[in-house]
Amino acid sequence: MAKIKKSYFCQNCGQQSPQWLGKCPSCSEWNTFVEEVVDKAAKPSFFKKDTGNNNRIAKPILIDEVADEKHSRIAFVDSELNRVLGGGLVHGSLVLFGGEPGIGKSTLMLQMALQNARARVLYVSGEESLKQIKMRADRVGAKSDNCYLLNETRLQNIFIQIQELKPHILIIDSIQTLQSDYLDSSPGSISQIRECTADLMKFAKETQTSVFIIGHITKDGTIAGPKVLEHMVDTVLQFEGDRNHIYRLLRTTKNRFGSTNELGIYEMQSGGLIPVDNPSDILITSSNEELSGVAISSTLEGVRPLLVEIQALVSTAAYGNPQRTTTGFDTKRLNMLLAVLEKRCGFKLAAKDVFLNITGGIKVNDPAVDLAVVCAVLSSNVDIPIPKGSSFAAEVGLSGEIRPVSQIDQRIYEAQKLGFEKIYISKYNKGIKPKDFDIEVVQVGKIEEVFRSLFAGN
Ligand code: TYD
Ligand code: MG
Repeated sequence: MAKIKKSYFCQNCGQQSPQWLGKCPSCSEWNTFVEEVVDKAAKPSFFKKDTGNNNRIAKPILIDEVADEKHSRIAFVDSELNRVLGGGLVHGSLVLFGGEPGIGKSTLMLQMALQNARARVLYVSGEESLKQIKMRADRVGAKSDNCYLLNETRLQNIFIQIQELKPHILIIDSIQTLQSDYLDSSPGSISQIRECTADLMKFAKETQTSVFIIGHITKDGTIAGPKVLEHMVDTVLQFEGDRNHIYRLLRTTKNRFGSTNELGIYEMQSGGLIPVDNPSDILITSSNEELSGVAISSTLEGVRPLLVEIQALVSTAAYGNPQRTTTGFDTKRLNMLLAVLEKRCGFKLAAKDVFLNITGGIKVNDPAVDLAVVCAVLSSNVDIPIPKGSSFAAEVGLSGEIRPVSQIDQRIYEAQKLGFEKIYISKYNKGIKPKDFDIEVVQVGKIEEVFRSLFAGN
């Protein structure tokens, strides 16, 4: 049978097609198909001799008869990295580490290599010269006798070096620069990325070497590489944050060896990325002055409780249409909350500009910030500060009701731990006994009740 030498690939999702298509049937994007040369003839296994086509046929077996396998893990010095990986790096696992350029991916990987001197690490960079990496290593400060650097983009050459060095951990920076000899297409193309990742996966499983693959994602997500890879790899880590702020969030979006609810938090300093043990402490301004328009919300990022500060500014709109601008919060959600305040509670905000900011440059998707957002807006509108020591954790419904949120006790404990005196929660949160907590738990059912409680005395 003749082999397909050329094929068309969707640059957005990686869908393959023998002919050009205007619209991708998989992701519905237009004009994304690009012709790439696919030549899979005569390809031996990566560094072993070719095993040929041995027709071993797998037999079905009972689930109870499958031998239990305990994954042995490499525990890192960096507790945040251990946490997001589900308790350390599993031997032979393939981890995709994605993030926008300049966010700190190379820094985190190099730091990990240098801090864990017991593991032999090979850091393969196709992006930076060895001198540049050395300079970064000097900045990071950690030292290791077991960290090797390699400047190479040809996958087959990398395997030759690996055969000699036998590293415990391999870092590829980045997958977009790798090139396999068995394909004619240029580095960074979908077929190259897929081919190289498939080879690295096979290598990781056969040799039980753990592999980190760094992958770039642009702001609008146009480089398809990492998206195509997600289903191939064991674990996907995502590095997020605003480059202009110092905080970085490390999230797990897929993990075959642990939960995807974990979150790691780092601070980018001049000496590299420093894990943040108590994030709530730093995300809240510790000024003693009471300011209007500021509310603290007890949110959850995955399973990690986090107190965030919400700042709102409400002012009379100077020009025609009032502006609604947010950072770190969904503008549509803000508009919805403002409509609820207007319609259900009679606060006149339609002719006002509303600006909302979540401090620290982090993004929050947790619905439990709703109540704090509403209170920050109301506080700015009436220009009365929310009493110090108050925090909030509840969703706001379309009829102005305060709705319950998940894992409320964790949120209450976090506020209590940080010395808050009061937390407003929904009265519909079942099974909460305010007496069980040292902090005062105020259970409310409607926005008006909160408003009266916060501002009535003034
Ligand atoms: P880098 O790891 O090169 O990002 P990526 O590999 O994701 O593209 O990090 C780039 C940024 O990090 C760069 O703008 C400078 C900053 N940085 C620090 O602030 N402190 C440091 O110690 C280091 C090494 C980098
Ligand atoms: Mg980099």
